[in-house]
Order: sequence, then C-alpha cells, then structure tokens
Amino acid sequence: MDRLTLKHAAEALLRANDRNGCTVPAPALYPHQWNWDSAFCAIGWAYLDPRRAARELEMLLRGQWENGMIPHILFNPEATHYEPNPKVWQIDQAPGRPQAIATSSITQPPVLATAARFVLERSGGDRTVEEILRRVVPAADAWHAWFLRERDPLQQGLPAIVHPWESGLDNAPRWDAALKRIDPGEVTYKRKDNAVVSSEQRPTRFDYDRYFFLVAERAKLSFAPPTPSSVSFLVQDVAMASILCRAEEDLHALARALGIEVPHALERRAKLAAGIASLYDAERAYYHDYDLVGGAPIEVEHASGFLPLFAGVVPLDVVPRLLAHLRDPNQFGTAWPVPSAPVDDPHFDPRRYWRGPSWVNVNWMIIEGLRRASWRDDAARLTDRTIELVSRSGFREYFEPNTGEGLGAENFSWTAALVLDLLAKS
Ligand code: SER
Repeated sequence: MDRLTLKHAAEALLRANDRNGCTVPAPALYPHQWNWDSAFCAIGWAYLDPRRAARELEMLLRGQWENGMIPHILFNPEATHYEPNPKVWQIDQAPGRPQAIATSSITQPPVLATAARFVLERSGGDRTVEEILRRVVPAADAWHAWFLRERDPLQQGLPAIVHPWESGLDNAPRWDAALKRIDPGEVTYKRKDNAVVSSEQRPTRFDYDRYFFLVAERAKLSFAPPTPSSVSFLVQDVAMASILCRAEEDLHALARALGIEVPHALERRAKLAAGIASLYDAERAYYHDYDLVGGAPIEVEHASGFLPLFAGVVPLDVVPRLLAHLRDPNQFGTAWPVPSAPVDDPHFDPRRYWRGPSWVNVNWMIIEGLRRASWRDDAARLTDRTIELVSRSGFREYFEPNTGEGLGAENFSWTAALVLDLLAKS
C-alpha cells in the first residue's frame, strides 16, 4: 500500500469504528470504550476532525468516579460479546461510581491530557474544541491527583497498579512472578476473546484465572485504595509512571493555553520524575518495575522500560545506554521493532499478546521520546519501519517482530490513528 492509500484507509477505519462519538478499539474483540485507546484515537481524529477528536475525549469523562479515577472500560450496553461483562466487575455497591454508565473498577495509563493538548494544537483556534477541552482539564487534573493520592501507598512518586490490565501492556513476562504467587482457587468465568483471536496469540488460562481473581478482589475489598498487605498484586509500573509524568507536563501546557489554573501538575510531575529515576538500574542500564507485595525490583526487561524517554526524564548520559538495548538484535533490534519483550528473554513469545509482538502505540511513544531527546535519526528510522509494517500487514493489533506478520485483532483503531500522526511527521 502506498502512503496516500494507507492514509485514506486509516481514516476510513476510524470512521468505521466510530460508535456515536467513541471509537471502539476493534469491533469484533473490544466493543466498548477503552480509556487509553480513546486517547490514542483522538490523536488520529485530530487530523480528520478536531471537534470529533475532542468529543472522543469528552466521552471518557462519562465514566469518571467521584474519587477522580477514569476507568479502563466504559461499557456499551448493546455490546454483549466481551468478557468480563459489567456484572463481573460488581461496581453496583462501589462508592462514587458513575450512575449513568457501567464501567470497570480499574484504570489504564492516562494519555488523556497528552491527547487533549495534541488536539488543541491542531484545532486552529476552534471555539467548540476549546470549550470541550475546558471540561477535560479539571477531569484530567482530578484523575492525575488520584494516582498519587490513592495509588502511591509509600508516597514515592510511583503509581502502583492492582491488575495487569491497568498497565495497558498487560500480558507481559514482567508480571509473571507476581502472578505466580497468587493462588486463585476455583475461579469460574467465561472468556470470548479466544473465539475471535487464536488462543496462541492471547493470554493463557493461567493468566486469565488470575485476571478474574483480581477483578473479584477489587469488589471484595470494597474498591479501597490498595496497600502492599491488603492486595494480592501491587506493582509500581514504570510505564504508568512515565505516561502520567508526561501527562502532567501536557496538562500544564493545555491548561495554560486555555487560561485555566492547574496549580499542582508540575509539582506532581517533579515527584513522578524522582520516582522514575529511582527505578533505574545502572548495572543493567534499564528501568525496572517494583513489586510492592514481593518487596523487590522486577528484573525483567520489556519495551515499557523505554517509556521514561516519552516522559523526557532520562538523563543525557543514560539515553545512549537505552538505545543500545533498542538497537541490539538479540534484544529489541528485531527486523520489525519494537518487540514488546526482548528476544533474549526466556519467555519471549513473538506471537503472543505483549510477550514479544511489536505494537504501534509503544513505537509511537518511543518515537516521541527519541525526538524529544534529539535522537532524530533513530526516531525517523523507527517511524519509517512502523509505517512500512502497517502498510504491509494492515491495521492489526500487534505484529510478529521478526516476520512482520499481522496478529491479534483486525481493524485495530489505534494502529490506524497513530499511523496518521506518523505519516504526517515522516
Ligand atoms: N486488554 C484486556 C483484554 O484483553 C482488557 O483491557 O481484554
């Protein structure tokens, strides 16, 4: 597919996946509104229709809880082909849940403010866009504050996740040891994902048992803020911290452009930057997550470890060390980068969800990070390779990093949305 055809196809895909103002990630597999998917989609919509892009973000605010959390799924009552369904999340008794819409009880990486800034900058001063984004600012501010108030039990500037799904990069080998510690007992549940995508490309039963166990645990604990001794899974996730850190910077800039005060965004950004710095392992030249329940760093590499670049918090002398991992063919330098897990990880699985395949949203964040660190040639190479990958294999959810074969869901929205941005900047 040439670049112009690719652009038109990406635009058509976003329009086809539009469901009254929110873009479903992939109609056959993910039929609801997903949090960070919507934010990435807004970045693509900004090229077609900035008002529609702003609307996508506003639709996310429908799901905000009183404590500020914006959940990872906002359910569409008409779509019934996804599990876990709203009942499984048991939020009926949750204090401060939204009344008008069913949601999950966990969150996802906060790309909202980053996407909102992006949309504003491409809206050409449109008043309707500005009005919508004015409503986004206080909502994003409350959500960001929630991360450091309710999810940072040791007050280290490091938001902790209670479920692998919160990381967005969920089925990663970096969570294996923490999940192995959990004995889920007899969990009964349905899953529908394997009927859409081949089982060899999806999480295993071992993982799903624990995913459902952790969903039930949130309800059992009345959705209370977690502590290392109260929950079964609690991890300081470097990707979550990095995306939030970047989002604080973008929230500050967005609010300033709209003439709104967000007095704590830069203060929170500084706390997060210090937290991320503490996750750097100088010996292995890598950023590692920290397991709060196990009380130890998780020394398992993953593409998530490059996301401090996206936050712009990697010291100048560390950037080349990260790049060495990125270029090494035995680690992340595959033919079709960036593999989610490094080739030399014993659990590397090039066809399975987040355990090896390359993803366009991760590439996009790494490209943004390389650009801001002024590694323009590497950014340009990864941009070209990502565009080439999608033009060969289509708008798939993820890609085999050695052969480039398209895997997972078809018609995947963020792949199309972010390709529009990569095309515009290449
Ligand atoms: N990524 C999860 C899934 O596969 C949920 O967010 O369904």
